[in-house]
Amino acid sequence: MNVLGIETTCDETAISVVRNGVEILSNVISSQSDYHRQFNGVYPEMAARQHVDLLIPTLEEALTEAKVTKSEIDLIAVAKGPGLIGPLLIGLNGAKTLSLAWNVPLIGVNHVEAHLYGAMMSNQSFLFPSLGVVISGGHTFLVKISSVGNYELIGTTVDDAIGEAFDKVATLLDLPYPGGPEIEKLAKEGNPTAFPFKAGKVKKHPFDFSFSGLKTNVLYAIKGQNGLKENASLISEEEKKDVAASFQEVALGDICEKAAKASQIFCSRAIYIGGGVSQNKRLREMLDAKNLSCPIYWPKRDLCLDNGAMIAGLGLHLFQQKGEGDPLSLEPQTRIPMS
Ligand code: KG4
Ligand code: ZN
Repeated sequence: MNVLGIETTCDETAISVVRNGVEILSNVISSQSDYHRQFNGVYPEMAARQHVDLLIPTLEEALTEAKVTKSEIDLIAVAKGPGLIGPLLIGLNGAKTLSLAWNVPLIGVNHVEAHLYGAMMSNQSFLFPSLGVVISGGHTFLVKISSVGNYELIGTTVDDAIGEAFDKVATLLDLPYPGGPEIEKLAKEGNPTAFPFKAGKVKKHPFDFSFSGLKTNVLYAIKGQNGLKENASLISEEEKKDVAASFQEVALGDICEKAAKASQIFCSRAIYIGGGVSQNKRLREMLDAKNLSCPIYWPKRDLCLDNGAMIAGLGLHLFQQKGEGDPLSLEPQTRIPMS
């Protein structure tokens, strides 16, 4: 089956054609990050407008690259949430229109689950029970996966998502959006033990995350104890490298520590990692260094950030499980509980 996957939850207009759930025929990602850089983050209203402009050209490119015509598409999968309401509406209405015009079924997909499916389809491995680790700009989740579609929440963030913390610290260091790759680059030249930053703890919830205290540690290190975000930096360019390295080490160390513990306690047969922060090479080194007894599966490079392939892949799985598509009345959901 050829599945068209449409992703517009945030600032990537991404469309892909995937055959039989794993064979990626095309994976076109029209990123808006250059546009949103001027706002130091995603401007939701403008993201929706950009999706309107980019949807049809991205679709045409995805079909051409896949060497597939519209009559060869058997299913349309679309990210129904969680995400920004304006962007979600554009993707969902586009998908519904195509479903109606081409007379093919439609299936709505949870974007966060799709990130985990990205690691499964990259490696063509399905081992359960497993631990899912979602680390992106909008989400930080540890989940126990019993099968595709069956998740139990183990831990989440009580404030910022991990990628959001990277983006905010990057702003404090005068680095452009998106900040994650910029911090990783700067951190390579810094000393990760130079600043004694601490990971956040959440009382009685050992697998939950909190990054706001760590972010304040960084703010004070850069702008002094009474420093405000808009105040000038008090540290040198050299010290900025140490701040980036120290922040990254603590934030990623916290993810690794909790993921390693959870995988042992829940007897996971595998760990699947998904979301934009999974691109970070230092994270891969740190988790590998834990020498865990189960394999760790990472998404391939094009499947780390938001993309349509993970939506198409999971979409086929859900369609086969349900035995039918979703109605055209399918609604966007800005939040979806992870269970
Ligand atoms: O999964 P994604 O494309 O979007 C959401 O679903 O949120 O993730 C984007 C996030 C951004 O916060 C970005 O800064 C972060 O992933 N990111 C990274 C790296 N590359 C992207 N964070 C740390 N290190 C990286 N190399
Ligand atoms: Zn995402």
